[in-house]
Order: sequence, then C-alpha cells, then structure tokens
Amino acid sequence: MSVTVRVPAKVNVQLAVGAARPDGFHDLANVFLAVGLYDQVTVTPADELTVTCEGPGADQVPLDRTNLVARAAEALAGRYGIDPAVHLHIAKDIPVAGGMAGGSADGAGALVACDALWGTGASREELLDICAELGSDVPFSLVGGAALGVGRGEKLTALEVGGTFNWVFAMAERGLSTPAVFREFDRLGEGTDIPEPVASQELLDALAKGDPDALAAAVSNDLQPAALSLFPQLADTLAAGRAAGALAALVSGSGPTTAFLVRDRESATRVAASLGSSGTCRTVRIASAPAPGATVLGR
Ligand code: C5P
Repeated sequence: MSVTVRVPAKVNVQLAVGAARPDGFHDLANVFLAVGLYDQVTVTPADELTVTCEGPGADQVPLDRTNLVARAAEALAGRYGIDPAVHLHIAKDIPVAGGMAGGSADGAGALVACDALWGTGASREELLDICAELGSDVPFSLVGGAALGVGRGEKLTALEVGGTFNWVFAMAERGLSTPAVFREFDRLGEGTDIPEPVASQELLDALAKGDPDALAAAVSNDLQPAALSLFPQLADTLAAGRAAGALAALVSGSGPTTAFLVRDRESATRVAASLGSSGTCRTVRIASAPAPGATVLGR
C-alpha cells in the first residue's frame, strides 16, 4: 500500500523581518498565502528509508537523510516507536530553492503521508509541533490557505481570504539559499535600527475582502533588497512584469522566484506571455490562491 499527499507552494504577501535573534533566526511577521502549484509526496513501505525525486530541478534535491521528507518520517516514527522503513518519492512542481517553500511543502507532505500510512492517530497539534521542529515554513505547508506566522514564522494564525487572487510566477535560472539571503539582510542592515516586525492591517483587510488592487498596494517583502543584492538580474524580471501590467511585483520569500499579482485570469495569461518572452527568467507559471494545505490524494 502507498499513500500520496499533495502539498502547495506559498508566496509571502508580507514578509516583515526583525533583527537577528541570539539563536540566529529572525522574528517575522510573515503573511503566507498558499498558491496552486503543488508537489506530491508518495510513501510506500520498503526495507529501509530511501528518497527519490523527479521533476524540474530534481537533480539539486538531496536524497539523503538531510532531506526534509526523511527527517519528517524519522521524527514521526521516533515519537511513535515505529521503524521508518519507507520509500519516499517526491514529484516536484514547486521550484527548487525558489523561495516558495518547496522543501517545506515536501516535509509537510511526507509527515501527513507517513501519518496516514502508519495510522498513528497523531493530533493536528502534534503534527504541527513536528512541522515546527522541521523548519519555520513547514507548519504553513500543512495548513495552507492564508495565515500570519510570527516567531520564526512557525506560530500560525489562520487568516480570512474573501476571494481568489491570480498570480504569475517567474522562475529564475538558479536558486538562492535562504540562510544566505538572511545573512545579506543582516549585512545590509548593519548599524541601522531594525523595527519590530508587525503585520499590516491594510494587507489583512485586502486579503479578507479579496481585493487584488488593495492587496497590490499593501504587499511588501523585507528580504527583497537582500535577494536583489545577491541576484541583481531579478530587478529586470520585476520591471518586465510591471511593464506587462502586473498590479504588484515582488520577490517571493527569500527568492529568487518573482511573484506578480494580476487582476484576473486573462491578465495572468497576458503577463505570463510577456514575461515568458522577456528573456529575464527561465520559465513562467500561472497559479491562483488560496490553495488548500497538505491533502491525501489516495492510497
Ligand atoms: O527554519 P528553516 O530551517 O527553514 O530556516 C532556514 C534558514 O533561514 C535558517 O537557518 C536561518 O538562516 C534563516 N531563517 C531566519 N529566520 C527565520 C526563518 C529562517 O533567519 N525566521
């Protein structure tokens, strides 16, 4: 028997970043929105824990015990005294090292898949605790929809979303390392006073109303200057999307994927075509939000 779980990518419509904490992490006010680009994780009983991966960028995905899918299986098995002898297969569609929480999505997917396979009876809270141990973005991958994440981003409050938001995503030629982008954020902010991160009420209202113009006026990403500093060509991609008529253009999370909020499905097609032929990115995708969290597809 095997279990397959589908997990969404995310875009951060607000990413407010505070100063580095003593533990090296940063306090965040992180407004996550799950978008309809999905990885699938399939777990099958096996002789030992193994990981395989297919899809774009699969060659950059580690297949050893450092992969979040393996760590998720081991963490759940450890809690319930189960031998984590399973084969985990990742079918990737979320860009690798793209700032869309692809690795985190896979971790959440593996956790839900193993939980269903083993029938542990773990509560949602227990699963969310394990997610938070695995990484700051992993709890959100489990719940999906929209949420405000504080602390490292792992302490979630679900947010109301009053409509569908249409997005275009431009994938870059190479990835960016999240720790490197946070380090660059620290370097750029040296000697300055970094305010406490707080969620924008305008942004939360825009989400609740389902109003793309209001959301476009309120999106922000404090990691964007750091991502642009490490990957200056992203400025060309952002400019190309704005010129094509996007309501808002921003780096997704730590990048380098760039995210373009558009008014409707037709403008998504137009902006995607324009970006696709701009020569400023590797590939372009259209997706809508909010998307559901980790979902068991079948067994
Ligand atoms: O939590 P996660 O392991 O996904 O984070 C990856 C890296 O991103 C951390 O090692 C840290 O460098 C950085 N990070 C941070 N502050 C956060 C979340 C992540 O500095 N709130």
